[in-house]
Amino acid sequence: MKALITGVQGFVGKYLADHLLSQGIEVWGTSREESPLLHLTHGNVKIIKNDLNSEEEILNLLQNSKPDYIFHLAGQSNVKKSWEDKAGTFYANVNKTIFLLDACVRYQKENPNMRLLTVGSSEEYGKVEPHELPIKETTPLRPMSPYGASKAAVSMLIQQYHKAHGLNVVHVRPFNHIGPGQAEGFVVPDFSNQIVRIETGQIEPVIRVGNLSAARDFIDVRDIVDIYTKLMILKRSDELFGSVINVCSGESRGIREILDILVENSEACITIEIDESKLRPIDMPIYFGERSILDRYLPNLDYIKVEETLRDTLKSTRRLKENESD
Ligand code: GDD
Repeated sequence: MKALITGVQGFVGKYLADHLLSQGIEVWGTSREESPLLHLTHGNVKIIKNDLNSEEEILNLLQNSKPDYIFHLAGQSNVKKSWEDKAGTFYANVNKTIFLLDACVRYQKENPNMRLLTVGSSEEYGKVEPHELPIKETTPLRPMSPYGASKAAVSMLIQQYHKAHGLNVVHVRPFNHIGPGQAEGFVVPDFSNQIVRIETGQIEPVIRVGNLSAARDFIDVRDIVDIYTKLMILKRSDELFGSVINVCSGESRGIREILDILVENSEACITIEIDESKLRPIDMPIYFGERSILDRYLPNLDYIKVEETLRDTLKSTRRLKENESD
């Protein structure tokens, strides 16, 4: 079997590619830049330069690579940045997805068994009332960030393409994914990078943070890619076409608690300071998802504990910093 991952060089893309390779699935990926093979633990990924700017170019790519599974990961995934570049976020997340969906409709005529997975976000739900927790797939979408609105638009589009064109597509709504190798700009790498800089004496022992009173549903990226893979290779996956699935742990953890666990895993003596520039115009106080649909299709999944993910992330940040200074 063969898979194509858009945005394969991103945080989730690399994990997904390696996981698919470990299952004996050949992997091709798209990237904005010309790139050589991507070498991963379980094999190599052929990279095709394609910025998803036209239906024809994407169709060409599909006809050359002939994937059975298409994972659409490419996009603008930073919530804070989406406030600064709303139109750019919509172009990257919505327009490019439309080009891909149109190309897939044509490609599916040649390969009726192809399956597409589009990646949305819990940010699609936006403003959620306390009585609506845990958030279900049927909870009304009231996005508050431009990023959330763009992903909500994608979830509408995939339902429309399934109904109008019979497209084999599933839309996942992952909650906060974390793990070793995540770029700064998200809460865990923002905290762990500062901790390691403090440990190595690069900055004073003060960690600058944003809103600590929020709580989020965190899930390890290694669990996320396992779930995406299982959803695609599932025998009953046709039951899921045209639908949306939450990918979450089902529990919320406070940002303050995340910070405390990270700090406890360091021997440095650290002071905490709120940095006003890290606060957002709007930030939901608490989020966690309902995962009964996920559990129905993929029962008995063993999730990595947040504590373990945080320890692994801190260790990998330390290794990266050591290599940088060598
Ligand atoms: N990034 C960041 N940096 N967030 C901080 C910080 C900080 O220094 N301090 C506190 N926070 C708070 C944010 O205000 C937010 O309430 C929470 O930590 C999580 O922030 P992020 O990690 O940036 O994630 P996000 O919830 O905005 O978005 C992420 O999760 C979505 C799924 O729910 C991203 O991964 C999105 O791409 C994803 O769709």
